[in-house]
Amino acid sequence: MNWMELDQEYIMPTYNRLPITVDKAEGNYLIDESGKRYLDLFGGLAVNVLGHSHPHLMETLHQQSSKFLHVSNFFLNKPAITLAHRLIEHSVKGKVYFGNSGAEAAEGAVKLIHKWSKQQSEEKSGVAVLKNSFHGRTLGVIRMTRQPGIYQDFPAADFPVYEAEAEDIASLENIFNEKQPAALLMEPVLGSGGIMPLSSDFLQKAEALCRRYNVLFCMDEIQTGMGRTGELFAYQRAQVTPDIILFAKGIGGGLPLGGFIARSGLDGMFQPGDHGTTFGPSPLSAALGNAVLDVLMEQGGLEEGRENAEYLWKQLESLQQETGAIQDIRGAGMMLGIVLDADAKEVKNIQQRLLQRGFMINITQGTIIRLLPPLTLNKEETDAFVAALKGEIAREEV
Ligand SMILES: Cc1ncc(COP(=O)(O)O)c(C=O)c1O
Repeated sequence: MNWMELDQEYIMPTYNRLPITVDKAEGNYLIDESGKRYLDLFGGLAVNVLGHSHPHLMETLHQQSSKFLHVSNFFLNKPAITLAHRLIEHSVKGKVYFGNSGAEAAEGAVKLIHKWSKQQSEEKSGVAVLKNSFHGRTLGVIRMTRQPGIYQDFPAADFPVYEAEAEDIASLENIFNEKQPAALLMEPVLGSGGIMPLSSDFLQKAEALCRRYNVLFCMDEIQTGMGRTGELFAYQRAQVTPDIILFAKGIGGGLPLGGFIARSGLDGMFQPGDHGTTFGPSPLSAALGNAVLDVLMEQGGLEEGRENAEYLWKQLESLQQETGAIQDIRGAGMMLGIVLDADAKEVKNIQQRLLQRGFMINITQGTIIRLLPPLTLNKEETDAFVAALKGEIAREEV
């Protein structure tokens, strides 16, 4: 069976697929139909924070699925209530809204922001975001994804979106002065925008500015959350306190789950009928969310992830000194961007050859190697990857 051909025939080509048919995944490895194993540094694009088939997640899945798969949002959902309580205990006091994806998290947050802004004044409206941000692709939020070629050809939802420069507090203040946005939404590390971490200084100044201008300070933790940068949420590294925190990707342990936390004072904005979705959340996804938190917050997963990330950074920084071919390594924790002295074709070649050698990496913005490994990536796996990368960089003569 040629799955690549069938994929091209029957599925819309919204992604450039790699020619791998994953048959199975275990630990930090993907296994294709021929039995070939690939170290998964792609991490399901930041979903698989604990790798694949983690025993605690599999056991939880088994237990919950043997009870029921779905009921309805008109009944109490124990896994969801427990998860919401735990998320709040580990972030800000308030309430949680659950949907199924990152884009839905952003959509819901925008609706809440809109309701809040109407309570403030008729003039207050819209959201300020950063250049190169990514907040989803559905029509309601696509304009908040400020990357070339993503939003330009599609109709705009009728709330204003303002674009500021990352790390440039003056550009933010200009927007706050000249317009009246209701909220500022930022990724603490811009992910698909090229792994650009925001400094604690910028985050703190942005928060102070939001307080001064009565603008909601909102963090998109969809890619950075669930321990990826060393804390449960990346904003916690900067000691700021968001009004709204978006989550998705890693929280569902591999199942679709997204949503947001709104701090007290905002948590009464939605009334029955204001928002909702049939599966928000699936009890199965919520049960897995609890299992992810068990591992991260109670079984040492967060600390293990920090140690593993520290080792990965150290090895990559040594490689940078050794070869001189790596221009920059940036990001935080298990969210890394490696900038090579190479063009898009050369970086693609490196990706292809690493794939042949059994290492799965992602490329963003054409030339930036994006690593989103599981927090469970161990020293031997890191050593094997860094050695392979070294060989491929030398071969491409970057
Ligand atoms: C920071 C961020 N926000 C929002 C999204 C959208 O999430 P989803 O693809 O689940 O709709 C993504 C997805 O990559 C993301 O990285």
